[in-house]
Amino acid sequence: MKLVRHLANLGYGSRKQVAWMFREGRVTDADGEVLYADDAVAHDDVRIDGEPLDPPPGMLAMLHKPVGCTCSNKDGGRLVHDLLPPRFRLRKPVLSTVGRLDRDTSGLLLLTDDGSLLHRIISPKAKLPKVYEAVLAEDLRGDEAALFASGTLLLESETVPLLPADLQVLESRRIRLTLHEGRYHQVRRMFAAVGNHVLALHRSRVGGLALDGLPEGQWRLLEPADRERLFSVADSVR
Ligand code: URA
Repeated sequence: MKLVRHLANLGYGSRKQVAWMFREGRVTDADGEVLYADDAVAHDDVRIDGEPLDPPPGMLAMLHKPVGCTCSNKDGGRLVHDLLPPRFRLRKPVLSTVGRLDRDTSGLLLLTDDGSLLHRIISPKAKLPKVYEAVLAEDLRGDEAALFASGTLLLESETVPLLPADLQVLESRRIRLTLHEGRYHQVRRMFAAVGNHVLALHRSRVGGLALDGLPEGQWRLLEPADRERLFSVADSVR
């Protein structure tokens, strides 16, 4: 692909704006040799103002989503994309969240521009475990773990029961819940179904990936080893 198009697709500007960057000599190779709009040079060998390019298409990133920002434009308010470099919003293909977390949920959120990777992660076949910690408004009744594990719980307005989920009680109103699917507001609706209410919700793991100390509001690119870890637990669970 010609460089001018590649850089425009990475969000460095419109084709016209990127063409100007070439005319100004801001686009070079790793040795500082000026490159031209029609050149076809490997991504890793290109520099803009001496800096390496943003990740090429096929990127996968992890964000520690804080409470208060949303995954969708429709929800209004601050978007998770506002926590990423502004250029990322202009990328083609688009950088999408892998599933969603509610505005009031914090924790591990994946983003990718690779549609087939996204589907592989969210596919019911992958059954990637997602681990949530929640603070509840009421003490547990005592039968929740058995009910959630039964594979028979039917949420309001749904026709297919939930897959078995694993509930660990940490304290009388603090739990860890492992899901192998991702339905709309699933954790909150599961506790509503047993007469409780989720006061705070945090996702700590997706597949074999954890936040591992990534501070709230921060993101990082995932490397091939992280991708392997992401899928590494899929076979070992139910
Ligand atoms: N379940 C919920 O209720 N909310 C989330 O954000 C994720 C899972």
